Amino acid sequence: MRIAQSVKTDEEIELMRIAGHKLARVHEALREFIRPGITTKSIDELGERLILEEGGIPNFKNYGGYPASICVSVNDEIVHGIPSDERILKEGDIVSLDAGLIWKGYHSDAARTWGVGNISAEAEKLIEVTRESFFEGMKYARAGCHLYDISRAVEAYAESFGFGVVRELTGHGIGNHLHEPPLVPNTAQKGRGLLLVPNMTIAVEPMINAGAAGVLQSDDGWTVYTSDGSLSAHYENTVLIRDGEPELLTCF
Ligand code: MF3
Ligand code: CO
Repeated sequence: MRIAQSVKTDEEIELMRIAGHKLARVHEALREFIRPGITTKSIDELGERLILEEGGIPNFKNYGGYPASICVSVNDEIVHGIPSDERILKEGDIVSLDAGLIWKGYHSDAARTWGVGNISAEAEKLIEVTRESFFEGMKYARAGCHLYDISRAVEAYAESFGFGVVRELTGHGIGNHLHEPPLVPNTAQKGRGLLLVPNMTIAVEPMINAGAAGVLQSDDGWTVYTSDGSLSAHYENTVLIRDGEPELLTCF
């Protein structure tokens, strides 16, 4: 017998909705800030200031010792890039911004990948397919479906373009904690996984590589790279499971 995980009350959901909308505004502002010539550190500084101005608490900062509020991952960096005042974005780069905040004890978590100035057609396609793979998953993000239905849909869609779906990192339940059970993989697993029930809140976050699916860990202890140096994109929202279509708490 499986027990429902990460199920919230209506009061909790209202707080998570507020946390999510605040984070959506932060992401919109960061999107407009992205241009050639800025440092990854300046993105973190702006993001942290915006989170605080929203009345939120940056949940990534000091999480397991992570030193910043926004994860900034450039080109072949998949996730958990550490902002640096020596890393300057240049035309043609792609940059993944992963951000989160806490509002009245409840977490939100979302990621976007943007192009810096003009980018290659391949990079454009990777970003688009990564986002679309999330929405393929959303077709199964509803009560009555099972968790791995989402995973399988994400994987099948991204792989149909020849892209590599990262296995080593997953989405997760979210609520009072940034990471709650269950894990939400982006690749098919044995079985169907947990039965989805109304009022579960999960972060679904495909990480898709233009080349092979493999990952490498940097010796900075955080940054995760593609094993073959290919580009990688990330798209994540905090999702509320309902009887019908899911509510994306970190979108408007
Ligand atoms: N957004 C990441 C996730 O989805 C969390 C980043 S953890 C940090 O799991 F430590 F890098 F901040
Ligand atoms: Co997450």
